Amino acid sequence: MEILIFESAEKLAAHAALLIAACVNEKPYAVLGLATGSTPVETYQALIAISKMGQVDFSKVTSINLDEYVGLSVEDEQSYARFMKDNLFDSINISPTNTHIPNGKAKNPLLECHRYDALIVEKGGIDLQILGIGPNGHIAFNEPCDYFPMTSHLVDLSEETIQANARFFESRDEVPRQALTMGTGQIFKAKKILLLASDESKAEAVTSALLGPVTPMCPASILQLHSNVTFLLDSSAASGILEAPGVYYKEVH
Ligand code: PGA
Repeated sequence: MEILIFESAEKLAAHAALLIAACVNEKPYAVLGLATGSTPVETYQALIAISKMGQVDFSKVTSINLDEYVGLSVEDEQSYARFMKDNLFDSINISPTNTHIPNGKAKNPLLECHRYDALIVEKGGIDLQILGIGPNGHIAFNEPCDYFPMTSHLVDLSEETIQANARFFESRDEVPRQALTMGTGQIFKAKKILLLASDESKAEAVTSALLGPVTPMCPASILQLHSNVTFLLDSSAASGILEAPGVYYKEVH
């Protein structure tokens, strides 16, 4: 477990983008596990900039996204498929056929989850997984509950998540109530994981994830057991761990 703390979200994003580019440069056929939400947007912008400078080539890369809202199509402005196109895919040379996101419009969500699980296995698993963290400690849409879901599944979003994500919609009522998400177990199998967190709204979740017990009530806490995980935090998100005894972190300037 490595913890890197940055003085700003911008510096965090620049560093995260370099790590992603380095992974692709080392392994051109890398499988990237990608995340949506506000947190990775700056990282994707920095990655696009690196790509435009010709310093990374995504032509052979496969991407597998964490989750999608149920009921939203690729065209829907709020769908994660659309988010990825707008915030990354349309600006880099990744082949659209190599990008994968659960189908939120699937008639049979269970079959769609099985398809997604099989896809991850077929691609050989995830080399580098990018994660955000919810204010409630969720990773992807694995909400706090009494077990760690192993595989892709249909999930009822928690009230806290609906509230947190309402900012992307016209009103809270428009936020989908369900999503298809990769399971915590599949995330855990990624060879390397980068968890990005900025803003003080994440401080409590980050503190629980790093210092609390490993429990599905804080899904991100499972990462304490992963052998190759880096938390990239801005100083606000890190505020709860700075003074904690026995925590080793590195400040990156
Ligand atoms: P955010 O979401 O980046 O929009 O804060 C993170 C998450 O819910 O995992």
